[in-house]
Amino acid sequence: MNRTIELVKTIYEIKQLEDVDEPQIALAGRSNVGKSSLVNRLAGRKSLAKISSKPGKTRSLNYYRVQPDGYFLVDLPGYGYAKCSKQERLKWAKLIEAYMKNNQRLKAVAVLLDARLSPQKIDLELTAYVRGLGIPVIPVLTKADKPKQRELAKLQKQWQDILQQDQAPVLFSSKTGKGEEKLWNRFGEHTGV
Ligand code: GTP
Ligand code: MG
Repeated sequence: MNRTIELVKTIYEIKQLEDVDEPQIALAGRSNVGKSSLVNRLAGRKSLAKISSKPGKTRSLNYYRVQPDGYFLVDLPGYGYAKCSKQERLKWAKLIEAYMKNNQRLKAVAVLLDARLSPQKIDLELTAYVRGLGIPVIPVLTKADKPKQRELAKLQKQWQDILQQDQAPVLFSSKTGKGEEKLWNRFGEHTGV
């Protein structure tokens, strides 16, 4: 299917948050895990979302409209970025929390996990938090072009056991396009398109 993705809204502060009628899928994960690169890959554009080799690039909530499906992908600021001030980190955490809480239209959170790392405490905390709100988690192993297939399979199994899900995490690479169709399908399952 030919889809288009366009940036329609950027939010920096809690007071700018307003209810959005369209269903949403949020993209969450540690800083530098590849959230913005994933948006660009799905959009088929190199620089729709700003990416950087330095963590802490995305500092706002970015709403991307997916057409013709009609839902939003919401790129969230990364967490676990040590180099910015504690005050700033707290501000982002609060913004993400305010966005997720009481958002009836948030259908799932795609939690991006670095395929080169074993499950990290901070990622476990995020998945637990999201599920605690009653929101489904779609685990996505990013940078899947890097590790060996055997390592990937092992990590998939680990996450599947942790999350107790029937489906294995999506193996995704922004570099090669691996997992793109699978991810669209997973989004579709939650947004009903
Ligand atoms: P923040 O905005 O800081 O939260 O980071 P982010 O999660 O948006 O990460 P971003 O997309 O900016 O990518 C971070 C770095 O990882 C960049 O140098 C990307 O080129 C690299 N990267 C992202 N996805 C992939 C991938 O699938 N494969 C490889 N090899 N590198 C990737
Ligand atoms: Mg980013």
